[in-house]
Amino acid sequence: MNSTTYRTNEKNTLVWREIEPPDTTKHHRRRVLLAKGLSIAAVLFLWWSYHSVPGLIGCRKTETVADADGVEGYRFDDFESITPSEKLEWHKCFTAFRCARLTVPMDYNRPLNASKDNPRVHIGLILVPGIHTGSEKASKSPLLINPGGPGGSGFTFALGAGRAIQQLFGVPDQDVVGFDPRGIMMTTPRADCYSFPPDNLSSSLPSPDDEDYVQGSFHRFLWAQSGREIGFINSSDVALQKLDTRIRATAKLCQTKDELYGDDGILQYVSTPNVARDMLSIVDAWDEWTSTLSNEPAVCDLPVKVKEEELHSSADGGIPYSPDTKGKLVFWGLSYGTMLGATFASLFPDRVGRLILDGVVDADGFVGPLWTESSWDTNKTFDSFATYCHKAAKRCDLYQDGDEVQDIANRFQAVEMKLRNEPLTWIDEQSKMPASFTNTHLRGLTFQSLYGPTIMFPILASVVSNLHEGIIDELIKQLAGNSPYFNSQPFCGAPLSRFSYPGDEAGLAVMCSDKRHPLNESLPNLEKEFESLSNMSYFSDVYMSFILICDGYGIKNKGLTMDWDDNPAHGSEPIRTSFPILFISNSADPVTPLHAGLKMAKKFVDAGLIEQKSEGHCSLSAPSRCTNDWIQGYLKTGIVPPHPVGDLGDGKWVECRAEGYPWKSYGAESSEAQGEDARAETERIKTLNKVQQELGKVKLWGTQSLDWIPTMQELVAVYESQNHRRH
Ligand SMILES: *[C@@H]1O[C@H](CO)[C@@H](O)[C@H](O)[C@H]1NC(C)=O
Ligand SMILES: *[C@@H]1O[C@H](CO)[C@@H](O)[C@H](O)[C@H]1NC(C)=O
Ligand SMILES: *[C@@H]1O[C@H](CO)[C@@H](O)[C@H](O)[C@H]1NC(C)=O
Ligand SMILES: *[C@@H]1O[C@H](CO)[C@@H](O)[C@H](O)[C@H]1NC(C)=O
Ligand SMILES: *[C@@H]1O[C@H](CO)[C@@H](O)[C@H](O)[C@H]1NC(C)=O
Ligand SMILES: *[C@@H]1O[C@H](CO)[C@@H](O)[C@H](O)[C@H]1NC(C)=O
Repeated sequence: MNSTTYRTNEKNTLVWREIEPPDTTKHHRRRVLLAKGLSIAAVLFLWWSYHSVPGLIGCRKTETVADADGVEGYRFDDFESITPSEKLEWHKCFTAFRCARLTVPMDYNRPLNASKDNPRVHIGLILVPGIHTGSEKASKSPLLINPGGPGGSGFTFALGAGRAIQQLFGVPDQDVVGFDPRGIMMTTPRADCYSFPPDNLSSSLPSPDDEDYVQGSFHRFLWAQSGREIGFINSSDVALQKLDTRIRATAKLCQTKDELYGDDGILQYVSTPNVARDMLSIVDAWDEWTSTLSNEPAVCDLPVKVKEEELHSSADGGIPYSPDTKGKLVFWGLSYGTMLGATFASLFPDRVGRLILDGVVDADGFVGPLWTESSWDTNKTFDSFATYCHKAAKRCDLYQDGDEVQDIANRFQAVEMKLRNEPLTWIDEQSKMPASFTNTHLRGLTFQSLYGPTIMFPILASVVSNLHEGIIDELIKQLAGNSPYFNSQPFCGAPLSRFSYPGDEAGLAVMCSDKRHPLNESLPNLEKEFESLSNMSYFSDVYMSFILICDGYGIKNKGLTMDWDDNPAHGSEPIRTSFPILFISNSADPVTPLHAGLKMAKKFVDAGLIEQKSEGHCSLSAPSRCTNDWIQGYLKTGIVPPHPVGDLGDGKWVECRAEGYPWKSYGAESSEAQGEDARAETERIKTLNKVQQELGKVKLWGTQSLDWIPTMQELVAVYESQNHRRH
């Protein structure tokens, strides 16, 4: 094919998708649009398909134009030029930030000082410095962040959202450090099953440095494309079999890759306990680094405003908790990040400074063969669609005069049935690619919208209403992003920095390495599991297609292990940490239900629990002054909400209402605050939107299997422009 038919834009690479210039006003308008769409807080299974390799070359038109001038590929070269070191050595990078590559043992049972041949991991770190005044040069302990996944990049999240996080949490003087867990993005070696060193290599030992990542990325893309049309496990009679076969074939590839490196392969050392141990290494390295900064006081702690005796102290009459964070972990984990944080707390309870764990994963479920418990509140989240639509009445496109809630739910279902029999097809105007929209697409889209209902439900209603009314032209515009838009440059042109190729198997490898009880089931048994999950969730077909990915995965975790249901450190007793943990769950979260937050909080002495009374994944999915106040109080003054008592139904814990919900946006104009407060509130909502937006870009597992679903951000952009025309 002649290259001109690709309509490539030479700047159209992944680089600009991941890395936006920190703050340029010229992108302002686009930001406003994105801020809304990207609140799909995307953790656990995210959807921003442009982060999967298909996205690398399946570029999306709308963004191409808007973002092209944001390309700054050289910044990756900046990072690549950093020599890894066992001490923290910060280098200027990405204009306003500092980066480091911290060398740690790949296998903590084989420390680096024992032999120079022991394998290493180089952790990619980015420092977003707080505003330090006077002689203060650094925070006592950095705020480490993990945006979820597993497989999400904390590095790129901090790069995009670090400043906003400081503002949102009211700690502008706090240093924020984003790091990529093992196997991911900027941390090397990567968990990459597709890239191999060339056969003809003269050196005797294979090395990840010799791997052909361009070829590997292309193979990953081809394999993903070949599975695009299968859909979810209930999309056809053969879908489950096909998906399972592909999963097993991929597992075999990973095994082949693993065998190449013997005991030194990264795939054996990416499990969550190893990453938790790395976080301890980061804290230790930070401590060592700050001790080299001259002048007392060289470091500043989180500003503690209360006296120690006022701090929440142990219910068993134990000693009060020290607010000091020196040498301790200060951490904000979302979704899978809660699993990482809780694992750290379990392994190193006396090294806990502050842990905010939001969108809580049930650790016992996570290590089980099929993590079905996470669907507990999926129905509840979806059911709220019809309720909110009804409440919004005419402002909801799917609403009709005289409707009851059930009428809206029925209309939705009728559209689904209709689409099952009459899928839509069209030709994408710009790329001249064939495109389709089926019942399966609609189910994926709907499930996706459950992550951020506040923003997404009105758009979902618009899509479904267009389907219902047969307004196909509008619909096609809404779905335009569904058609891929190829850019061969990253594969056929000169290779880019390895760090700019996003797709890899990190999410898969972490998820499967953490399985204490591996999954290796026959098809009939999987069918049964599916039926049983269907009793719990209306979206069992979508969800089951994701949690299946570890079937037949044969690589054993050889690094640190941590068995949640049998931990030698604490048995079944709650764990006493050096500072109580703060857990946050939404009342209805499609993938991390409230009951998991309650259960996890009870595993830790004095841990606080906040229930945010809203729908969506993680508390960020809806604005809540109350939740934000608690987080600020926890970080700034060490105030911990009370430990939950009782169970779902009759239990007691802190509840926070949200100010915004579907069809009721919350901003300055709707704020009840006045004057200064109103301005502060406007700022807070802006930073919240920014954090939501950056979180929406995090690459997480599940993306590859869903790359055929249009991106939310396009839906939002079109929705906005259509509404604009209407009014
Ligand atoms: C390696 O370092 C650890 C602590 O970092 C120390 O306990 C150990 O003795 C050292 N081993 C050798 C062989 O130097
Ligand atoms: C190995 O083969 C590749 C092409 O497959 C070639 O580009 C490269 O020069 C070869 N390297 C050696 C050391 O022969
Ligand atoms: C699902 O629920 C139905 C009806 O309650 C029950 O008959 C069936 O055994 C359940 N299936 C599974 C696999 O749990
Ligand atoms: C699976 O699909 C069939 C129709 O193809 C449908 O009858 C059945 O209810 C679906 N099962 C679930 C659990 O969605
Ligand atoms: C969730 O919805 C499905 C499909 O409507 C239903 O079969 C199931 O019983 C519901 N589960 C719960 C726990 O409400
Ligand atoms: C899965 O089970 C089959 C036998 O049922 C076995 O041959 C195979 O090795 C198992 N695979 C893994 C990865 O454990």
